Amino acid sequence: MKKNIQIAIDGPAGAGKSTIAKIVAEQLGFTYIDTGAMYRAVTYKALKENIKLDDEKNLEEMLLRTEIELKPSPNGQLVFVDGEDVTKKIRSNEVTANVPQVAALGKVREILVAKQKQLAKDGAVVMDGRDIGTHVLKDAELKIFMSASVEERAKRRLLDNEKRGIPSDFEKLKEEIALRDQQDMEREISPLVQAEDAIFLDTTHLSIEEVAEEILRMAKEKMA
Ligand code: CDP
Ligand code: CDP
Repeated sequence: MKKNIQIAIDGPAGAGKSTIAKIVAEQLGFTYIDTGAMYRAVTYKALKENIKLDDEKNLEEMLLRTEIELKPSPNGQLVFVDGEDVTKKIRSNEVTANVPQVAALGKVREILVAKQKQLAKDGAVVMDGRDIGTHVLKDAELKIFMSASVEERAKRRLLDNEKRGIPSDFEKLKEEIALRDQQDMEREISPLVQAEDAIFLDTTHLSIEEVAEEILRMAKEKMA
């Protein structure tokens, strides 16, 4: 019988985590959990309710009365906040630029990490984020730390934004990505760092198919 393992994928913005995680989950019949979408959902609601993004107490109180749901659909994962479909809205430039500030707060992380652990408790999951291998799923059977040059990641984001109809400029995107990486790596609580037992994958010159194939190969080994 095959084991229902946990797969943790971490890395900076635009490394290809969610694209690959989705493919790997689909191929293995596992559940995909996009933790970044949860931090984005909290940030979206905080902006909507005009809550100061450094007001930890107020954000905690808001989060405790907020329902965040990730639902699979034929067109990809949908994200709901209190029943509202915010899948597109949480990808706006405003939300993206402000997530690291909200994600740096201990109380916010505590609540979301508890939810993430609960979702993954039975295994058969692929979870991507920044602290999955180091904090959320410390015992995951397979941990990947994925990265790519900042130029390549900005190029990918530019294409993504074009497809979504979000106007953007390459140089500005590069700066924004580098700033977000820095904020995520330098925060005190659960910073973005490679777990000791994670496998490093540089995807700069790899296609989506090549990366997915490599991870699927490793996953199948662990499941055997
Ligand atoms: O898709 P992209 O790489 O742009 O970002 P994301 O995965 O949606 O995450 C957005 C932001 O949420 C990150 O820049 C982090 O500030 C935060 N995040 C986090 O702190 N911990 C996680 N496990 C996932 C995301
Ligand atoms: O989740 P994360 O921010 O790490 O990245 P993503 O949203 O999965 O990937 C950003 C973009 O890069 C997507 O449009 C992917 O299709 C693309 N990509 C790529 O061109 N080559 C790869 N090896 C991986 C992702």
